[in-house]
Amino acid sequence: MKAVVYDRYGPPDVLRLEDVAQPVPRRDEVLVKIHATTVSRADCATREANRRSGLAIMLLSRCISGIRAPRRRILGCELAGVVEAVGAAVSEFAVGDPVFGRTGFRFGAHAEYICMRQTAQIAHKPTGMTFEQAAAVCDGAFYALSCLRAAHPHTGQRILIYGASGAIGTAGVQLAKHFDADVTAVCNTQNVELVRSLGADRVIDYKREDFTLNGQRYDVIFDAVGKHSFRRCADSLTRRGIYLATDGLENLVLQLSTSLSGGKKVVLFGMQPRDPKKDVVLFLKKLIEAGRYRAVIDRSYPLEDVVEATRYVETEQKTGNVVLTVTGA
Ligand SMILES: NC(=O)c1ccc[n+]([C@@H]2O[C@H](COP(=O)([O-])OP(=O)(O)OC[C@H]3O[C@@H](n4cnc5c(N)ncnc54)[C@H](OP(=O)(O)O)[C@@H]3O)[C@@H](O)[C@H]2O)c1
Repeated sequence: MKAVVYDRYGPPDVLRLEDVAQPVPRRDEVLVKIHATTVSRADCATREANRRSGLAIMLLSRCISGIRAPRRRILGCELAGVVEAVGAAVSEFAVGDPVFGRTGFRFGAHAEYICMRQTAQIAHKPTGMTFEQAAAVCDGAFYALSCLRAAHPHTGQRILIYGASGAIGTAGVQLAKHFDADVTAVCNTQNVELVRSLGADRVIDYKREDFTLNGQRYDVIFDAVGKHSFRRCADSLTRRGIYLATDGLENLVLQLSTSLSGGKKVVLFGMQPRDPKKDVVLFLKKLIEAGRYRAVIDRSYPLEDVVEATRYVETEQKTGNVVLTVTGA
């Protein structure tokens, strides 16, 4: 099968299309023929061994992904496709079923085929969704949900989402509204209407207004794009407010130090189960089928153009998600 592989950490052009052995499903696995996947910030960060995040994170990243070279040659955290074969013990899926899901840090979705355990983060594709749309559902939503759950979202809770136009941000706005929170979204001028259409109660254009100066207080400030800081927005949090972070080692340190106080807290990414199960994927499927969640797609590229797609994601200016379509499918 064709797959995008890389053998050393580096810039986008370390990625190349190669013929690799097609995986064979074990007893409890399904073989999925992938129709669409995405290029995420996690793919980019892993490919360059988190070079931009400083020495400590870079070393940590290499400890996880391979010290000298990547252990997993194929990136790609999420996908949509069709079940092509099933192992003998698989009861939940049958050949021909359209599915969608997330591989997370197991990666492997930038390929024509992938094997996933039936208990992994995979479910039947929501009805009425294209493969491209379904491929872009899970990863941003997974992170947004992990963060929001750490803040115990509830009716009327005042949540500000900074960076509301990214993959995590667009998911965050919709999920916070699902929990009936009062949502203020912050984004650039060109994304104001989009973010409003996702359900935000009010939208602040950061080009025109600095939310930290408007005198408002929020129960939760969710920095969905890693561009703000607890220090800069602490005064905009209520007395026991929570700053949710998606990036930065300093936020881990702040999480530990603020956890000991009774006041404002920092939480980096909420709880991440080591082997997350499919409950998040099933939850998203339900929301989508109820018309309460959609994937925002900025651009779509054929798998062959992965380098170009990756360069675009690395501008850090994509709106929602960037999809790769697998044309062999
Ligand atoms: N997606 C993942 O799988 C993943 C996994 C782990 C960690 N993370 C981390 O989570 C963070 C968000 O990831 P993501 O994939 O959601 O990001 P993303 O989609 O790349 O975010 C891009 C969006 O952020 C907006 N943005 C850029 N600079 C901004 C600023 N200074 N203020 C406000 N908005 C700004 C951009 O619009 P404008 O520039 O037009 O405003 C663009 O719409 C990143 O720090 C990433 O490293 C992501």
